[in-house]
Amino acid sequence: MSEESEKSRRESEEEGEIIYECSEGVATIILNRPAVLNALNDAMLAELNDAFERAEKDEEVRAVVLTGAGNNFCAGADISALEHSTVEDARDFARRLQLLTERIEAFPKPVLAKVRGFCLGGGFELALACDFRFASEDAKFGFPEVNLGIIPGGGGTQRLARIVGRTKAAELLFTGERISAEEALRMGILNAVSPAEPENALDDAVSKFLEKLLAKSAIALRMLKRALQGLEMPLHSALLLENECFANAFSTEDAKEGIKAFKEKRKPKFKGK
Ligand code: COA
Repeated sequence: MSEESEKSRRESEEEGEIIYECSEGVATIILNRPAVLNALNDAMLAELNDAFERAEKDEEVRAVVLTGAGNNFCAGADISALEHSTVEDARDFARRLQLLTERIEAFPKPVLAKVRGFCLGGGFELALACDFRFASEDAKFGFPEVNLGIIPGGGGTQRLARIVGRTKAAELLFTGERISAEEALRMGILNAVSPAEPENALDDAVSKFLEKLLAKSAIALRMLKRALQGLEMPLHSALLLENECFANAFSTEDAKEGIKAFKEKRKPKFKGK
C-alpha cells in the first residue's frame, strides 16, 4: 500500500451513521445510511455535530465537503423514527437540526455540499446551510414534508426563500414537488451541475473548485464567510461588520504576502496567518 493510501486509510474512520475522511486539507463528512437513502436520525445529528467540531479544531482541515454514501445525498428526516415520536421529541429533533445548520453557516471554513440523487427535506436543509452546492445532473431537490402533513423544521422555510425569493420558495414548500438539478441551478440554488457520466465528473468538479479555495488565505476566506453573515442584518450594521472583517484580513501576514507577491509579479504563498 502506498504511503498516500495508507494515510488516507488511517484518516478514514467509520463512525456509524456517518463517515469522516480527511485528505489534503479537506474533511469529507459522509451521511452513511444508504439503505434508507441516508435519512437523518438522532444518532446521525449527534455524529454530524462531533464531525464538524473535529473539522473545526483540526488545523490541517481547510474546507469541508458534506455528501451522502451511495447514490443519494439524503431523503430527509427518518420517517420511521418520526412515526414513534412525541410532539416534544419531534420539536427537539427539529431544533437540533436547526442548530446544526447554524453551526455549518457559522463554521469558520468553507463548507460545500456534494449532491447526488435525492436531496429532500432535512437533507435539503443541510445543503442549503452550506456555502456552496455542487450536484450531478441526476440530483433531485424538494421539501416533501407537506405530503406528510408536516412542514420543514430545520430552516427550510427560511433559507430557501432567502436564496430563491418567496414566490418560488412558497411553490416548492406548498406543493412538495421536486425539482431537477438543472432547475435548481437556474434558480440559483446550485453553483454547478456535473454530468452523471462519467461517475467521477462531480468529484472532479468539486476537487477543482476546492483547489482554488485552498490556494487562498484561510483567514481571508473566514473573514468573507463572516462578512456574508451580514446579509441577515440591517445594511448599516452589516457594513460595520464588513469593516471589522476587512480590518482583520488586512492585519494578517497573508495580506502582506498577497500585496508583496502582486508587486513582485509572482503567485502568493499564503500561510493562514
Ligand atoms: N425516512 C426513512 N426511510 C426512508 C426515507 C426517510 N425519509 N426515505 C426513504 N426511506 C427508505 C424507504 O422506506 C425504503 O426502505 P425499504 O427498502 O425498507 O422499504 C428505502 O429507503 C428506499 O426508498 P424507496 O422509497 O424504496 O426508494 P424510491 O426510489 O422508490 O423513492 C423517495 C425515493 C425519496 C422518493 C422516497 O423514498 C420518499 O419519498 N422518501 C421520503 C422523503 C420524505 O418525505 N422526506 C421528508 C421526511 S420529513
